[in-house]
Amino acid sequence: MQKRIVVYRPLPEDLLAELKRDFHVEDFGHLDDLDDPAFRAALSEAHGLLGAGQKITAEILDAAPQLETISSVSVGVDAYPVEELTRRDIQLCHTPDVLTETTADTGFLLIMATARRAMELADLIRRGDWQASIGEAHYGSDVHGKTLGMVGMGRIGAAIARRGALGFGMRILYSNASPKPALEEELGARRRELDELLAEADFVCVTVPLSAETERLIGQRELGLMRDSAILINIARGKVVDETALIEALNAGRIRAAGLDVFEREPLPADSPLSHMANVVALPHIGSATHETRHAMARRAVDNLRLALSGERPISPFNDPARLPA
Ligand code: DGY
Repeated sequence: MQKRIVVYRPLPEDLLAELKRDFHVEDFGHLDDLDDPAFRAALSEAHGLLGAGQKITAEILDAAPQLETISSVSVGVDAYPVEELTRRDIQLCHTPDVLTETTADTGFLLIMATARRAMELADLIRRGDWQASIGEAHYGSDVHGKTLGMVGMGRIGAAIARRGALGFGMRILYSNASPKPALEEELGARRRELDELLAEADFVCVTVPLSAETERLIGQRELGLMRDSAILINIARGKVVDETALIEALNAGRIRAAGLDVFEREPLPADSPLSHMANVVALPHIGSATHETRHAMARRAVDNLRLALSGERPISPFNDPARLPA
């Protein structure tokens, strides 16, 4: 009997065809509503689930009694009840590594765009308002030679720090649960308590995963510790930063600018102040969104699912249920 897979995020044609050779696949393309009756019916027989972005709850798992594996087309797993999955012996897989460099590019894009006010000044041209050479009121600030404070020094944090140190001669500080001696050696990075890092950095770049410990890690108090010339970059998850406190700090000039790829609510509501503040560069969660990287992520998710459903060890398991071969 072929195992059954439910797909709820668009997959490239070649990968979908590949899955269909070995499994019975029900493809829902881009599914916004996980209460959709056809999806629920498919779920009731599914052995594998492949998608991303949607919150998977215990109630959804109850509706999928045969489920063996969830393969997420993302590195972040905050949308999944990880402990619950492990308890139910369900394998969760994700897609680290293949998106590291592209997401780091996005981080650096935000560093550059905020420091040099690229969107604000490009808009001036779009409006036909470039009447004279740019003066002091429109100057940005340097990136090279400044201090980059990484909040989180995992794979993506390290890739951003590497760009900063090696490409822009930046001094690197980081706060992280564990020390990173190899990066200290390679980049001259220095580990700091979070409060110290916030007070010293010109750019504070948030890359920690969202968890109970990191929710609202950067709130009013932490923003208050930053320099008034400092810039906050968030490419992790919106909920790591208290958005209301951030808007207040930006409006009051307590920090200079923010570059954001993630928000408390996504899509960002059109009436959010963040969507039109001059000192904010807001992107629609594009961290890994290039043709090459999104294909590589989908490839990894398909490979993970195929291996796990065949009783083999997936390439990137996230949890450790009993079924996982050693
Ligand atoms: C990821 O892979 O976690 C990206 O942020 C997309 O959700």
